[in-house]
Amino acid sequence: MFCILPHLFFILFFYANCVHSQTPIISFISKQRVVNLGDTLELVCQVQHASQYSVNWVLLKNDDPSNFLFITKGQRVILSGNRYSVRFDDKLRSYILTIHSVQEVDAGTYHCQIITGSNSKVDAEVNVIVRIPPVISDNSTRNVLTTVGSNIELSCFASGFPMPNISWRREKYELMPNDKGALLRGNTIKFYNVTKKDRGTYYCVADNGVEPGARRPVSVEIEFPPVIKVGRQRYGQALQFYADLQCDVEAFPSPSIHWFKDGEQLTDDQYFKISIFSRSDEFSRTTLRIKRIENKHYGLYYCQAANKLGSNSEAVELYETVNVICPPACDVQTGSHSISLKPVLNFRIFLSFFTSIFLLTLNH
Ligand SMILES: *[C@@H]1O[C@H](CO)[C@@H](O)[C@H](O)[C@H]1NC(C)=O
Ligand SMILES: *[C@@H]1O[C@H](CO)[C@@H](O)[C@H](O)[C@H]1NC(C)=O
Ligand SMILES: *[C@@H]1O[C@H](CO)[C@@H](O)[C@H](O)[C@H]1NC(C)=O
Repeated sequence: MFCILPHLFFILFFYANCVHSQTPIISFISKQRVVNLGDTLELVCQVQHASQYSVNWVLLKNDDPSNFLFITKGQRVILSGNRYSVRFDDKLRSYILTIHSVQEVDAGTYHCQIITGSNSKVDAEVNVIVRIPPVISDNSTRNVLTTVGSNIELSCFASGFPMPNISWRREKYELMPNDKGALLRGNTIKFYNVTKKDRGTYYCVADNGVEPGARRPVSVEIEFPPVIKVGRQRYGQALQFYADLQCDVEAFPSPSIHWFKDGEQLTDDQYFKISIFSRSDEFSRTTLRIKRIENKHYGLYYCQAANKLGSNSEAVELYETVNVICPPACDVQTGSHSISLKPVLNFRIFLSFFTSIFLLTLNH
């Protein structure tokens, strides 16, 4: 009994409203939209009983939620910039807002509002998310220059939406220092006691699922003292001929390279010629040519390399042979000796020819 009276009032109230002027309503608004930069975005607001009223699209930006931006009033665009258009679709009874070439600033909450009085409105909203590809921030590490045994730290930050994940890898997917695998996650990676094999290019990769991703190379240069490798420890050659002794040097920064014999530094002169070829910042090959061997030239030679981190040397021996060693001395005519290798070669060719015939016969 008690309940009937309020219900009656309610029904009467509504009845009165229907007869005189129906309350405008928003019967549909687009669902949340996730768009990419450059997309065209359409937002639909379907209204009922709103022909007498102004229907507006208003934007509440994420970064400034206190500031309403009026985009459209009815079928008129009021926000400057020619990326907006609005139309009323009679059949759908919808105000359709179109935003061309979506930008980052278009992210936010879009309100469809029917202004029903100076202080009243009917409102519905739709959230628009703009996906932004990752951009690596300038405060990320660019290059690192350090020495063996140091600790290093590489940092990388990126903006974008959603927030990008940061991962690290090396060129050719080489393993990370300190046995940390080939891939590392996180803004900052740290390594202890780096060695020379840890040098090279590292990549910070920022990914948030939005194309294109971002990648930045970080070059890690590690200074280390010279390491010398001799291909051969001993070279034999006959008197009067020449010999080339060789050392490969790995060092960073670039080392100074010298040859020594019996404690004396050798220089280019009538007996010796020193060449140094750098294959890169870190690799050099040095060759000492003993132009025309005399007895005093046999013995131990040292190639020595030094940079600010240290110095190293390796011994290479030149010993006497009775026969001319070829190569290198294949086509030289030196002094009174004149070598002709032709008969030997011809005999070899003949021999291999003979062997081939023999093998062919065997196969059949
Ligand atoms: C680097 O810059 C980004 C913004 O570009 C910022 O979010 C981040 O905190 C900065 N990091 C450092 C370590 O300064
Ligand atoms: C650093 O590495 C070198 C060579 O791998 C090793 O001999 C040395 O003990 C390490 N030092 C420390 C503090 O781990
Ligand atoms: C970041 O990585 C996590 C774990 O792999 C993943 O769940 C998440 O979706 C990634 N975030 C983005 C923005 O790609």
